[in-house]
Amino acid sequence: MQKLVIDGGRPLSGEIKVQGAKNAVLPVLAACTLCSREVRLSNCPCISDRYGAARILTSLGGKVRADGTDMTVDCTDIDSSSISSELMRTMRSSIIFMGALMGRTGKCTLCYPGGCDLGPRPIDMHLSAMKKMGAVITDEHGIIECSAPEGLTGCKISLSFPSVGATENILLAAVTAKGETVISNCAREPEITCLADFLIACGAHINGAGGSRITVEGVERLSAPRESFAIIPDRIAAATYLSCCACAGGELMLTDCCPAHMEAILPLFEQMGMYVRSFGSNIYIQKTGGLKAADTIRTMVYPGFPTDAQAIIMAPLCTAEGTTVFVENIFENRYRHTGALSRMGADIRAEGKVAVVTGVPALYGAASEAPDLRGGAAIVCAALGASGRSEITRTELIDRGYDSIEAILSSAGAKISRII
Ligand code: UD1
Repeated sequence: MQKLVIDGGRPLSGEIKVQGAKNAVLPVLAACTLCSREVRLSNCPCISDRYGAARILTSLGGKVRADGTDMTVDCTDIDSSSISSELMRTMRSSIIFMGALMGRTGKCTLCYPGGCDLGPRPIDMHLSAMKKMGAVITDEHGIIECSAPEGLTGCKISLSFPSVGATENILLAAVTAKGETVISNCAREPEITCLADFLIACGAHINGAGGSRITVEGVERLSAPRESFAIIPDRIAAATYLSCCACAGGELMLTDCCPAHMEAILPLFEQMGMYVRSFGSNIYIQKTGGLKAADTIRTMVYPGFPTDAQAIIMAPLCTAEGTTVFVENIFENRYRHTGALSRMGADIRAEGKVAVVTGVPALYGAASEAPDLRGGAAIVCAALGASGRSEITRTELIDRGYDSIEAILSSAGAKISRII
């Protein structure tokens, strides 16, 4: 069993290049299924979820090559439309292959996706959208079979909630469907815009991505971008390294990030008393004194405060002077990190959607298990600022979303190592 061992209390210092976004590279890899030419991608983070998506592409008959953060994907010979349950369960994003396969082959067989345990994660909006576009769907013993022998047809789809995954799935299904698709109340996350930009570079006709109404005019087929397509920076990984600095102290310069995607996140670090300046694609952060509690943090869809940063920002607030209230509005079971933080000495009361964090003078190292991807990252942040040694197991959950986390933090002065 692998574990991360962290000796806390060492201030950070140095420069961190922020990785490409996990939640952008996965739908773009699924979109490659629709491309009739070889696709070149850059800034793809080396995370286990990316390898999971590559395994799915290979199992469908695609060819995937990788050289660090550069990838080449050739789906010209895709000859299968079913994904094994083992591959489906590796991550939540596997469901995005449904729209892509329906667009490519007019059918697909898959099962319910895996991913972090954040409470119930239904896919009803994905399925009803496919049905509305003309797919016949059966769901027996958890095996979902979709087929539209004549292909999908564009239509008007109004989402009851701006789901990121459902918006992506509908986009992927719509780009080669017959006629026009209009998605209203769709998700506005930067990762949606990245996917739309990729599809447009492949020849798709899409308008309005980044807003709450997207219009897609179906085209016969997609080609590939002329140039290598760059995946956008990971705003949650950037937030994680800012939190590491808030916990451990010191100063960091983040490069290759997109501060415009972090407008709901950066002011919270300033409220905590951190010195934060962004310029171009860089963010400089410095801890100048003790931390202060923040105003109530309510997770919301973009451009609101992201649920994926909730655990991560809770870590420094555990030692901030005063009380911070969290309200988690997106997922039902997203306070599983609070147990580990409490064992490190934090004062947290969590019930239902609300967690109340009252700052304590210091945290101390402890042994704990990563409960999920971002919860695991939060424990890493807290451990960097805690006195003594922390050991974190279930590192495979953290590796789903972070490229070389221990190497990056070590290079910035942290004492962190991985025991294999
Ligand atoms: C994506 C992100 C995840 C992030 C989340 C919210 C990826 C790979 N994952 O997940 O990191 O935390 O957005 O920003 O991009 N829902 C339904 N029915 C559906 C679909 C969703 O009820 O058919 C509900 C979910 O249970 C949840 C809410 O809608 O309560 C938001 O989910 P959604 O935006 O779909 O998240 P994901 O795409 O799974």
